Amino acid sequence: MLTDAQITQWQQDGFLVLPNFKSAQAVAALRERSLAIVDGLVLNGTLPVFSTRDRQRVVDAALLDSADQVHCFFEEDAIDAEGRLQVPKDQAVNKIGHALHDRDPVFEHFSRDPLLAELARDLGLERTLLMQSMLIFKQPRIGGQVNWHQDASFLATDPQSVIGFWFALEDATRDNGCLWVEPGGHRGPLRERYGRTPHGLKMERLDDTPWPSGAATRPLEVGAGTLVVFDGLLPHASAVNLSAQSRMAYTLHAVDAGATYAARNWLQRSADFPARGFA
Ligand code: FE2
Repeated sequence: MLTDAQITQWQQDGFLVLPNFKSAQAVAALRERSLAIVDGLVLNGTLPVFSTRDRQRVVDAALLDSADQVHCFFEEDAIDAEGRLQVPKDQAVNKIGHALHDRDPVFEHFSRDPLLAELARDLGLERTLLMQSMLIFKQPRIGGQVNWHQDASFLATDPQSVIGFWFALEDATRDNGCLWVEPGGHRGPLRERYGRTPHGLKMERLDDTPWPSGAATRPLEVGAGTLVVFDGLLPHASAVNLSAQSRMAYTLHAVDAGATYAARNWLQRSADFPARGFA
């Protein structure tokens, strides 16, 4: 489906912007389903509050548990020290993850799209495994920033094979926290790795190359329905959303089954619920 010019651009830049990849109806269906999942959340009184010491262990456990489930994660600023929600439930959720594409029929239909399978093949994935999905709300006024990172830090394979598919479910602008990328930055080194260590889940520095800034970076202001696809080594980030508009996005991360999936990655699928491809 990609032209030779697009393949060349992919190799040069490490990302492609594909406007109108998804129809308005498909995008609306995913937004509605996401809001319904949050609406179905049952919160009994206050949310649990953990001591600082316990907090990391509990946060780690919630993340690990979400590998093959559909879990909601809250914005830090949405909960006070006593565990009370400071904003309505539907504005408090930061994201839903990480097996939406395998557990939820609406997300599965959106993700297992023949066009997407064709695109993945064009980008070099021979045997695709859909490892991870996230619905990111980027809530008005409290949607937190995402620091510069490379997705290969979280989903390491040897050789590196992870590709990120980022779907705008609403218009993304600089005001509501659109993606920023470093064009060509995928040719730089992997700077960090995150995963299982004897001391819990940790981020470790691998390379001192600084994160990009200034003229090396570019905001990707895109309309709803746009797909941004990027190489697992491409540095990217997004700013805090201080506007009154949410900036919902859906991300799907794929790796090649022919590459070795790192045992230290936080996300591990059990043998009875393995990751699958587009079929
Ligand atoms: Fe990312």
